[in-house]
Amino acid sequence: MIKLTQAPKSGLHGEITVPGDKSISHRALMFGAIATGETKIENFLPSDDVMHTMRAFQDLGVSITQNGRQLHVVGRGINQFKAPKQPLDMGNSGTSTRLLMGLLSRQPFDIQLFGDESLSQRPMKRVATPLLQMDANIELAENGTLPATLHANKTLKGITYEMPVASAQVKSAILLAGMQADGVTRVIEKLPTRDHTERMLKQFGGVINSKNGVIEVTKQPELFGQNVIVPSDISSAAFFMVAGLITPNSDIILKNVGINPTRDGVLKLLKRMGASINVNQIQNEGEPMADIMVKAQPLHGIEITAEDVPGAVDELPILALAATQAIGDTVITGAEELRVKETDRIATVVAELSKIGADIQETPDGMIIHGKTPLHALNESALLDSHGDHRIGMMNVIAALITKGDVVLMGEDAMSVSYPGFLEDMNALMREKK
Ligand code: S3P
Repeated sequence: MIKLTQAPKSGLHGEITVPGDKSISHRALMFGAIATGETKIENFLPSDDVMHTMRAFQDLGVSITQNGRQLHVVGRGINQFKAPKQPLDMGNSGTSTRLLMGLLSRQPFDIQLFGDESLSQRPMKRVATPLLQMDANIELAENGTLPATLHANKTLKGITYEMPVASAQVKSAILLAGMQADGVTRVIEKLPTRDHTERMLKQFGGVINSKNGVIEVTKQPELFGQNVIVPSDISSAAFFMVAGLITPNSDIILKNVGINPTRDGVLKLLKRMGASINVNQIQNEGEPMADIMVKAQPLHGIEITAEDVPGAVDELPILALAATQAIGDTVITGAEELRVKETDRIATVVAELSKIGADIQETPDGMIIHGKTPLHALNESALLDSHGDHRIGMMNVIAALITKGDVVLMGEDAMSVSYPGFLEDMNALMREKK
């Protein structure tokens, strides 16, 4: 349990580089492991989630060395993995689990995957269903969850799959299996989701086509090791964007943030709320990056609908906090996917922000937030809880910046799932004087 602090009257100031992108770090490791030769990953995110992917490949016999935020992977191709001696531990990581289910669905030995309590409750049938259609041999627990066994399997066949939910993890699992399948694999998306897998495959020399929501892949020739530069994670930067906007007198610069257009929904939504955010693009091969400048300023409520959700799915908790400080109502609909994240994020966001006086209601597929409300500990002190969910923990830390009264946070350890060093970066912005 930790005591959280209010921002100084002078606001938050300074320049920070948030850690590397979680989604891209997972994928860089995966492609490095299945390519031939050396892959160097710069600004790799050594967070709990990504370390589970790293250890899984080490258990499969891939040589990986880590030096801080630099990673060196020596791949020997997708057909050279060793049978792991024990089940692979996925920890809290949905991305590790779902992508590896696809990637490892054609190995000559059985592989077992298991996860922590939260991950063990999350739906895995959404990945197993298309993979079974491709002739993978996957067994889940009775209720469609982990533990999973990927049985030894020699062949996969291409399918055409219309996505029932907008999910980059499901799409990626199918594409990673499709890269090893006979025939063409087609994924049809109603709404675009993050395309890091597609970009990374191209960077490693693979071929993939995407047009009008149809992504097509066939069996890939040998992929070769690459140098990958991971941009800073926009999902982590989002916490400081909102902190800078809602904390009076603030002025923050976030360096080298990934602004992939399938991931930058938070920027679009904050701009719709009236924020003027300065985005200075920097060139980077593979994934676009930018320096982002935010200043404290008034916001107004908006409608966030299903179309907005995939591009900002992980940022909705922190956007809900921003909405408590926006004038008027913010109505979020079409966001039922939030209910199957690390926690039911509709329930946990509403529970936590209500404890500090937000006027927020839960709906089946989203929330309604009436702004603007001053935040304050309702009793003498507010006991906030991450519920074991990194993004709920970080949302609470940012909320405390503008909450009157004593605020403590339980379950702060969860933040290292995506952002080790979050509190240190937060404190650095409070120390910087203007
Ligand atoms: C991710 C996709 C999203 C996101 C998760 C990371 C990825 O999940 O919420 O944090 O790296 O592909 P869904 O595919 O379940 O939407």
